[in-house]
Amino acid sequence: MSRIVYVNGRFAPETEAMVSIFDRGFLFADAVYEVTSVIGGRLVDNRAHLARLRRSLAEIDMPAPASDEAIEAIQRELVARNGLDEGIVYLQVTRGAEDRDFTWSAGLAPTLVLFTQARPVVDSPLARRGLKVISLPDLRWRRRDIKATGLLPACLAKMAAKRAGADDAWLVAGGTVTEGASNNAYIIDRTGRLVTRPLSQDILPGITRRALLELCAREGVPLEERPFTIEEALTAREAFVTSASILVTGVVEIDGHPIGDGKPGPLTRRLREIYLEFARTGG
Ligand code: PDD
Repeated sequence: MSRIVYVNGRFAPETEAMVSIFDRGFLFADAVYEVTSVIGGRLVDNRAHLARLRRSLAEIDMPAPASDEAIEAIQRELVARNGLDEGIVYLQVTRGAEDRDFTWSAGLAPTLVLFTQARPVVDSPLARRGLKVISLPDLRWRRRDIKATGLLPACLAKMAAKRAGADDAWLVAGGTVTEGASNNAYIIDRTGRLVTRPLSQDILPGITRRALLELCAREGVPLEERPFTIEEALTAREAFVTSASILVTGVVEIDGHPIGDGKPGPLTRRLREIYLEFARTGG
């Protein structure tokens, strides 16, 4: 069954949707994106995703393709037209299409593309089992706070993880973990504190991270925002990652060493439940 996707003002079957070969998203990865999860047909924490999209656009001097309200209307329409109950809505804005040149013309109209992907979010097998990760050097650019589509380093890291029999990679720069290849990284240290790297240009300000840290404050979970090393993670009680596509998911093995008893830990499981409750109701 063919999906209905959205390209520049038009809903169309995926086989008929087109973007120019001169699109700067294609030629230069001159583009930013957002991924919003869908649970029970509902967009999760979408206002926060659209606010981050605005920030990403502003940081690279790209005009917004539409108002937040108009974009959300497109997202809802896609969810409805595709009968999406659980999965994600992907959204990408590129600077637009013109003959190849590093600099761009003033007034170039941005390209806006959205599509859905159906997949289990709440009851995913990987969340039940937990992720095996390997550590790799962080080869990305220095503005990781911008959600840009230049994801080749993430693709290479995830392929290396897959070839090593793992599920994902934790990226290391200057001796400490920055984040996962497509998620934010956390440990529960030996005193029961939740530890995660503070926001900076080193990492993406995750929307799931933001909501989770607020929920932790409400629940009285002690938090320390500081960088941590792989060595510390190896002796942590628990480890987990967050993102819109996998919510809160345990990490059960790092570089072949089990974390805790090798299963998603009790606090990780509780935080996943608390986040799911937020996602289903308030998010
Ligand atoms: N990735 N860090 C990186 C490098 C990411 O790519 C992502 C999200 C996150 C988590 O952000 P959020 O909680 O807002 O999803 C952190 C998305 C899901 C992706 O690229 O598919």
